[in-house]
Amino acid sequence: MKKVVCPGSFDPITFGHLDIIERASSLFDEVVVAVLVNKTKKSLFTVDERMSMIREVTSEYKNVTVASWSGLLVDYCEANKIQAIVKGLRAVTDFDYELQMSQMNLQLKGVETLFMSTAPAHSFLSSSLVKEIAAYDGDISGYVPAQLVERVKSALSNN
Ligand code: PNS
Repeated sequence: MKKVVCPGSFDPITFGHLDIIERASSLFDEVVVAVLVNKTKKSLFTVDERMSMIREVTSEYKNVTVASWSGLLVDYCEANKIQAIVKGLRAVTDFDYELQMSQMNLQLKGVETLFMSTAPAHSFLSSSLVKEIAAYDGDISGYVPAQLVERVKSALSNN
């Protein structure tokens, strides 16, 4: 039974994240999408809101579940018997930091990281850019699932 975790901030989940989750779900028996608290980033949505949005947009994938964790990712993996982390790599700009984290996670608890290249259509996409575009009333419908567009706009206007 190959169970992997797709971790991230998902603030909010984008088509880039969804592409990786969908492809991981076709490769592995079980995929846990884990909302991690990234202490270096200020978030727009609460962890519960992010989990609920992810659940909504991944409901068609029967082997995908959603979880959250506020500690080290490797401790989540150990507690849930997960041997590998799956992450998307968009461009070389992601590489240094992702490589460093993957090596640290391997060193800390022997957890492997598998990188999937992001589909070219999503290689420029990030949650931060989506929020910036929405904050200036730009059109984000090409970047997040339709049911999240208004939620992002209203969270920004209440922020
Ligand atoms: O979507 P992001 O913000 O790029 O995801 C980064 C994330 C949340 C996966 C990373 O910061 C993380 O794993 N945080 C959990 C805390 C942890 O394990 N830190 C040590 C990493 S070596």
